[in-house]
Amino acid sequence: MYRFPTPTLLFLIVTLIALVSSNPEDFLRLPSESSRFFHSPSADDKENNEGTRWAILIAGSNGYWNYRHQSDVCHAYQVLRKGGLKEENIVVFMYDDIAFNEENPRPGVIINSPHGDDVYKGVPKDYTGEDVNVDNFFAALLGNKSALTGGSGKVVDSGPNDHIFIYYSDHGGPGVLGMPTSPYMYASDLIEVLKKKHASGTYKSLVFYLEACESGSIFEGLLPEGLNIYATTAANADESSWGTYCPGEFPSPPPEYETCLGDLYSVAWMEDSDMHNLQSETLHQQYELVKERTKNGNTLYGSHVMQYGDIGLSENSLFLYLGTNPANENFTFVGRNSLVPPSKAVNQRDADLVHFWDKFRKAPQGSPRKAAAEKQVLEAMSHRMHIDDSIKLVGKLLFGMEKGPEVLTSVRPAGQPLADDWNCLKTLVRTFETYCGSLSQYGMKHMRSFANFCNAGIHKEQMAEASAQACVNVPANPWSSLRSGFSA
Ligand SMILES: *[C@@H]1O[C@H](CO)[C@@H](O)[C@H](O)[C@H]1NC(C)=O
Ligand SMILES: *[C@@H]1O[C@H](CO)[C@@H](O)[C@H](O)[C@H]1NC(C)=O
Repeated sequence: MYRFPTPTLLFLIVTLIALVSSNPEDFLRLPSESSRFFHSPSADDKENNEGTRWAILIAGSNGYWNYRHQSDVCHAYQVLRKGGLKEENIVVFMYDDIAFNEENPRPGVIINSPHGDDVYKGVPKDYTGEDVNVDNFFAALLGNKSALTGGSGKVVDSGPNDHIFIYYSDHGGPGVLGMPTSPYMYASDLIEVLKKKHASGTYKSLVFYLEACESGSIFEGLLPEGLNIYATTAANADESSWGTYCPGEFPSPPPEYETCLGDLYSVAWMEDSDMHNLQSETLHQQYELVKERTKNGNTLYGSHVMQYGDIGLSENSLFLYLGTNPANENFTFVGRNSLVPPSKAVNQRDADLVHFWDKFRKAPQGSPRKAAAEKQVLEAMSHRMHIDDSIKLVGKLLFGMEKGPEVLTSVRPAGQPLADDWNCLKTLVRTFETYCGSLSQYGMKHMRSFANFCNAGIHKEQMAEASAQACVNVPANPWSSLRSGFSA
């Protein structure tokens, strides 16, 4: 039953209002004119360009409040098609519950920026709904049709001279990436699949662009050199990544949108790719530009773009992976000339609250919509508090009042992986969820604490005992639309 907010909840809501409504006095500089020098492709480009370009695009979330991830992926599809990739070479994973969502003010249309065109049009429905899952992603990348369940059957059927581009946009946490289905994806499993793909000799080089919270932790200390893989991530191993074009920000979405339209790192690479002759721009140049834009003037609302793997590959032109739009033929890349960050962004993990809050704010006084939105905000907040409190308590039960909090938050030196024993990590997460309920999207932020428990030698039995004590009364997950990502 819904009751009046407690003082704590009220405080959190007031903080939230301050977060979304503070008036940015920062200004936006519009992209300046790109210079127009004709660039002829170098011999190197031609030589490298024998193979086929393949791509896998994945939006790992669902729900209207996560509009931006599917929007990012649709935009990426348009970039690649304009670049000349064929539909048969682009495998798209997206839940596909946005375009025709009842909350969508423009039915059948998805935009990725305030004045952007429809990016949904033409996007193939290779893997939608429940078919967006870890096993299908791995099968598609490995080109293993017999391992697929559902979907269009499209896989990366690549050969030794081919180039592969993978772009993933979603929530994440230390060592883990979200999926709209259960289970989520662990970094260790992804790295194993990348090694397997390399061992099969079915690509020349592979580029991975990853947008998620703590996305650096997916590769840090885990992705070896020598696999011909170059990865960049929206954030380092220990920080959030950011949504952008959010209600209350500047620039904000059109007023009828109550959700963020994109993500900061993602729109940075795509808006750059949209305007240049990509034969004239290297991966490294784009990395530098995206890094600059994503750190957002070193404000609190930005993150550190990182690179991993075979950094030398970043000398390649983007053309090798993304192709290039013939209409941009005369728009040569000339350094950090064009894109200046939007002044505000919303933490990935708060974007759902921004959605519910904006919905609440705009709904007429006394309407069922207003009551429903208020309920959603409060339920989301109470689920967060339950998860945060339970993990803190488990830490104290396992390590004592003083050491507990320290173990929860300690970060290994750069270059070391999050965990040594990933099976232990999976087991401890599952054990916790058995007693305390689903971590869900928000709870992924605590993965480092679980990893630290493993690194400190905690076993399943100890975890079970502590969790049972910490979560004597397991509240049913108040937010029933958030399914567990882990307990599968
Ligand atoms: C393809 O997937 C099937 C089913 O998971 C598995 O048995 C088979 O070994 C895989 N093939 C290759 C080449 O990896
Ligand atoms: C690029 O510039 C050349 C020379 O001015 C011109 O012939 C060509 O049409 C331009 N390409 C595009 C796509 O505008």
